Amino acid sequence: MAELSLPFQSKYLPLKKFHDFYRRSMDEPEEFWAEQARHLDWFKTWDKVLEWKPPFAHWFAGGQLNASYNCVDRHVKTWRKSKVAIYWEGEPGDVRVFSYSTLYTEVNKLAAVLKDCGVGKEDRVALYLPMIPELPIFMLACARIGAIHTVVFSGFSAQALADRANDVGAKLLVTADGGFRRGKVIPLKQIADEALAMCPSVEKTIVVRRVNAPVDMEPARDCWLHDMLAEETPLVTPEPVEANDPLYILYTSGTTGKPKGIVHSTGGYLVHNYAAYQWVFNIKEESVYWCTADVGWVTGHSAIVYAPLAHGAAIVIYEGAPDYPTIDRWWHIIDKYGVTIFYTSPTAVRMLMGYGEQWPQKHDLSSLELLGSVGEPINPEAWLWFYKHIGGERCPIVDTWWQTETGGFMISPAPGIERAPLKPGSATLPLPGINADVVDEAGKPMPSEERGLLVIKKPWPGMLLGIHGTPERYQEAYWSRFPGIFYTGDYAVKDKDGYFWILGRSDEVLKVAGHRIGTAELENAAVSHPQVTEAAVVGKADPIKGDSIVIFARLNDGVSPSPTLKQELAQHMRNIVGAMATPDEIYFVTKLPKTRSGKIMRRILKAVANNVSIGDITTLEDEASVDEVIKSYHELKQTG
Ligand code: WTA
Repeated sequence: MAELSLPFQSKYLPLKKFHDFYRRSMDEPEEFWAEQARHLDWFKTWDKVLEWKPPFAHWFAGGQLNASYNCVDRHVKTWRKSKVAIYWEGEPGDVRVFSYSTLYTEVNKLAAVLKDCGVGKEDRVALYLPMIPELPIFMLACARIGAIHTVVFSGFSAQALADRANDVGAKLLVTADGGFRRGKVIPLKQIADEALAMCPSVEKTIVVRRVNAPVDMEPARDCWLHDMLAEETPLVTPEPVEANDPLYILYTSGTTGKPKGIVHSTGGYLVHNYAAYQWVFNIKEESVYWCTADVGWVTGHSAIVYAPLAHGAAIVIYEGAPDYPTIDRWWHIIDKYGVTIFYTSPTAVRMLMGYGEQWPQKHDLSSLELLGSVGEPINPEAWLWFYKHIGGERCPIVDTWWQTETGGFMISPAPGIERAPLKPGSATLPLPGINADVVDEAGKPMPSEERGLLVIKKPWPGMLLGIHGTPERYQEAYWSRFPGIFYTGDYAVKDKDGYFWILGRSDEVLKVAGHRIGTAELENAAVSHPQVTEAAVVGKADPIKGDSIVIFARLNDGVSPSPTLKQELAQHMRNIVGAMATPDEIYFVTKLPKTRSGKIMRRILKAVANNVSIGDITTLEDEASVDEVIKSYHELKQTG
């Protein structure tokens, strides 16, 4: 965990300035955050900066604002009217460029369409779209009229879409005829049709034409977007909403089978994201910023849409796969648009690293000034490759730790305020206003260099308002382990300099290529296969994807394991959850190792799947089952 001597570090000032800023944020949090909030445009100033009734925080209570106004309208009143907001590139190579002025027009048009569909304040709108400009524009259009969007990642299956649309009670669904991925068309409307058959609350569907694929349209329910657009651009007044009115609900995985609808506020969320984006990315007027995440995840919500656009930044959005049609597609895009800030995931870095540096070397990447990483721990080897071959040994890397629940960046280097020396693989220090710590099972701070649980000890503005529809679950999931303290579910270590090293999840949540998936959700999907009686899912360390999915499944009596059944189960997982749930390994066993109380001993399965020592197994009801798992594991490994 040594500090690396990087050339740009010599430019770093002593950390004092950062520490003073941080100390102020801790000593006077309300004054500190009120100062940050003044960077946004408010229709009415808040009455109180923070109302904290644990575990519920209301930031900027009584304040009124509108997210779409802050991301669009306020820029068109300045010279940014003609500044590029979005450079969009489709996978086939088609390009659309939006200035803030055209973005304003488009947001107004789509807001008018939503209103025509009868959508109003607090109605929920499900967005199931590929990475096309209509996705962020519909999000802003919802925000404009005070409707709450719930974006469902376009890689999710019909069942997953239906579950989310139903839980949120969506009134309207927006989808597309399809999306491009590696040259193939993903038939989104067809998948949506399957979902809609299970979604009684959805009254109308808007379909965006993207791939020109034939689709079935249900006349009473479905409308093409292009048929709904008015010829004249209507102006839709942005609806003032209270700071704690929800901006969106985004589903994420936890330790139970049912995904959690994370509800984010408008005011606190925007204030946190606006401030943290400046600190971390040091965004400048001339920056060209590219975050490669999908808008369907929180990274896309905060770090593609709301934070950059609230800053009036120029952003790049790319629709397709990183290595399609050639391995250097991303490097080509950086070169083509003169990207200055490039924010991606460790999985992508490791994958592109595997292809070799000859690919980035073909392109002029000298525009880059800053690199970022998110979603999983970045191993020092990938960090150094990214630093050397993409950043040309000139660009700091901001390793940003945060979660769907935190709304915005929490622990990260912060070149915008001060450059703390970097250490490859460490997210460095908590950002101002964020009181993070590493504690033991009893909630006591861990000594440095020892692994513990990562917690946040004070409320912060971007924190979730709750879990949609279930306040008890919100309390239980995050605040019951240590009363009054937010439990993140991650393991971490603080080194002797106070730097945080995030070690991965401490709960049953996997990070597969940066996608967050709960093992319980995967197990539910596996047992919904008619021939599977019982299943346990564990993560196996994967050199590229972080975690890969391993299923141990017990079949119905009388059903014999076969390669065909394996394939069927794998396909079933894709159908129920989506492609990211495709298992890497499936083992059919006749018994799963369990505790005396009947809980599956996941620890053992994990050890078996990862080929490491098993440790203490004394709570096992029947030790033979361990031998059996090991035996079947080895047998199946041999037979493939
Ligand atoms: C992990 C993604 C290490 C972590 C923004 C967290 C990270 C989970 C980092 C949240 C990082 C995110 N280093 N691990 N820089 N960033 N994580 O909700 O386990 O999809 O709890 O939000 O990703 O995943 P989520």
